[in-house]
Amino acid sequence: MRKHIFTTDICSSEITSRTLFESRRRWIQGSVASLAALAIPEGGVESRDVSKFPVPIDANKSKFSSDEEQTSYSDVTRYNNFYEFGTGKEDPFEQAYRLKTDAWKIQVIGEVSRPKTFDMDDVLRLAPIEERIYRLRCVEAWSMVIPWLGFPLSKLLNAVQPTGNARFVQFVSLYDEEQMPGQKSPVLDWPYTEGLRIDEAMNPLTLLTVGLYGEVLPNQNGAPVRIVVPWKYGFKSAKSIVTIRVTEKQPSSSWNLANPKEYGFYSNVNPNVSHPRWSQRRERRIGDFLKRDTLMFNGYSEWVESLYRNLDLTKHF
Ligand code: MTE
Repeated sequence: MRKHIFTTDICSSEITSRTLFESRRRWIQGSVASLAALAIPEGGVESRDVSKFPVPIDANKSKFSSDEEQTSYSDVTRYNNFYEFGTGKEDPFEQAYRLKTDAWKIQVIGEVSRPKTFDMDDVLRLAPIEERIYRLRCVEAWSMVIPWLGFPLSKLLNAVQPTGNARFVQFVSLYDEEQMPGQKSPVLDWPYTEGLRIDEAMNPLTLLTVGLYGEVLPNQNGAPVRIVVPWKYGFKSAKSIVTIRVTEKQPSSSWNLANPKEYGFYSNVNPNVSHPRWSQRRERRIGDFLKRDTLMFNGYSEWVESLYRNLDLTKHF
């Protein structure tokens, strides 16, 4: 594991101007702009053929879904944080074509009675795919509304039978400098890691995610499988996961290692606890001009506040 030598804050770049987007769009071969049809995204180098999607794309909309206006496919897939492909917001869109997602394997190990290495077919057989339209609130104070496709992570964890010592879950993203040139820079400890308490991981909101907008996950959004934890800041939702490790002790996580004073293990969306360098009271929904109030637990209190009844959220931010 590489040791990082400096820290950056996630807040490093601004949304690229529309003109630049337009010129890039013209540059991308085979680009098809058809936002009118939701299931037919704009084609880009990263888009994967919907016909390859091995599950029904008319998945049931889950009761946990938001009915707010969805962020455009273009913003969801071109304004990303995925430092393995660079720290700029458009770097993942431009660089993530390097990621090879065929023959992907995800191993589930640690405090489990039945450790197993799953290929993507095994994963997709575990449970029916649901559409979950979730708010994603980034620690940088912007947010999106994204129609994810996936199923509760609990289905995967139950399949490997956590032992009595299982208290936490760690997610480990792929480490491969050839495919992920951003890993040549020591901006974070690689591979990217994140973690949850086991009860957070088992919460029905925590989504093992394989798609968005009716298609397989574009590479820049964490193909072929990522986690989405909608009541926590976006960096908790690790992308392109190869290992899920169930542990007894609280696992390390990349942003917490990089700067523990700024990025806590819990990182629940909380308008009452400021980031040391900026307020978390308000956020800008990508595509909106005006800011809006940030909601406690990103608006998911109903389902998650009981997880933190005995926890001082100012201390455990
Ligand atoms: N996972 C990995 N492996 N590497 C990353 O840099 N960035 C995180 C998270 N997961 C990141 C990651 C951050 S900071 C955010 S806000 C979300 O991914 C962004 O997800 P999106 O680009 O699909 O919107």
